[in-house]
Amino acid sequence: MKKKDKDIKNDIENIEDVETVEEQNEEVTVSEEEVPLNDEELLMLKRSVREDRKKRRRLTHYDNSDKAKFWRFTKRNKIFSVICVLLAVLIIALSTLGTVFLVRKIRARENKSDFTIIFGDGKYTEKSTYTAKYEDLMRDGILHIDMYKLAEYADLTVTGTKTSVKFTSNKDNYLRFENASTEAIINGSSVEVGSATVVNAENCYVPYDFLTKAVGDALKFTLDRDTNTIKIARRVHATDDDDVFEPVEILFYTDNFTVIVAMHQVTDEYKYEYPLTAKPYISAMDPEDPSEYLLLANKQTPLGEAYAPTDLVKLTCKTATGREMFLRKDAADALYFMMMCMQADGINDTYVTSAYRSYAYQVDLWNRYVDQHMSEGMTREQAEEMALTYSARPGTSEHQTGLCIDFMTTSMTELDESFENSQAFAWLKDNAHKYGFVLRYPADKVGTTGYKYEPWHYRFVGREAATEMYLSNFCFEEYLKVN
Ligand code: DAL
Ligand code: ZN
Repeated sequence: MKKKDKDIKNDIENIEDVETVEEQNEEVTVSEEEVPLNDEELLMLKRSVREDRKKRRRLTHYDNSDKAKFWRFTKRNKIFSVICVLLAVLIIALSTLGTVFLVRKIRARENKSDFTIIFGDGKYTEKSTYTAKYEDLMRDGILHIDMYKLAEYADLTVTGTKTSVKFTSNKDNYLRFENASTEAIINGSSVEVGSATVVNAENCYVPYDFLTKAVGDALKFTLDRDTNTIKIARRVHATDDDDVFEPVEILFYTDNFTVIVAMHQVTDEYKYEYPLTAKPYISAMDPEDPSEYLLLANKQTPLGEAYAPTDLVKLTCKTATGREMFLRKDAADALYFMMMCMQADGINDTYVTSAYRSYAYQVDLWNRYVDQHMSEGMTREQAEEMALTYSARPGTSEHQTGLCIDFMTTSMTELDESFENSQAFAWLKDNAHKYGFVLRYPADKVGTTGYKYEPWHYRFVGREAATEMYLSNFCFEEYLKVN
């Protein structure tokens, strides 16, 4: 019986055989030597085989590959899959960061040898070579060029001071740099350089990229970082004489830059230029409502006792020592910029000796002048008449507006007409209007202003009015009447 069972089992396992048996609908037979199954056993076997066949048919195809196993696993283990994805993302991010870090490290190991600068090609223009220290030209990872050296080669005219220098190729084309500024002025327009320039008496380091963008076709720049060699050569053009070549004129362009402050152009012929960047002071010099700075205060138009400006600020420019002085905010800012530019042009001896004066202060001043003249033997009437030629009665002084100042120089002992001989006066004569100031009491306008000539007294009116007055030679009263 045991043997029979074994045989039955074999038969079940060998489904192919069984199916064949089924399909052919053959009777199960046994060998003659074996004990034949009885009917009941045979029936059981047939049933079992049929059952087994049915079960097998119900089974779908079962993919047992590793991939299929993995997906079945992830389907059942969602959290695990999410962790896997996150891990994958993390690995990608880390390897990207690693690559960036590596590239940086490789870059950091760039050639740090000194630079060789070669001017000219030796063919059309003379060739000269000099060596510049790596750390002088490479500043904060930005390659620079020494403009003084370039100026020598390219025949640029160098003017300015130790900290503000201008390189001119022709009268309308120039670059101006100011020490530690991230801006440069190209033909009067202020543009972003990208990094701070270094300007001193010996060097003027400006970013190489800036220069290549500012210079037109006239100069050819070639940079080789493997050897740290910079070649700069002037392009040439042929002349009528076939053998003679002339360098192309050097022009500077703002095309590749964002212009921060365009040159203030009053007329086609008349343009301003500033030695320093005007950007922080433009809003003061070109006030939104310039009319509020056209307040007239003169003998015929008094301000009265009650008038006092509400936006007075303490002056931070050079003032007479030991005295705090005040002006209205925009006038103070414009004055500060004007005095900085004056200094940039080499004038250092000028300071403010008087600014805002309150009504009460003017009362004191006026009384002092009148008393002085009376002590000299004049009657009050005579003394007042005399004082009126140079000082305003309380309530009529322009100083009460908080919009004017008196200048002196360190070589003056008192406020007098000798200011007219100063460098500052000559400078103010040509430039004060660009900053919004006008000479308030000119020598040729005494009849109109009512006061004698005061070369030291400047009034803030904003750039527009100041320029109109400068160009038309109008004093303030004349300008207000016409406008
Ligand atoms: N010196 C001028 C006129 C003033 O006193 O206001
Ligand atoms: Zn004055």
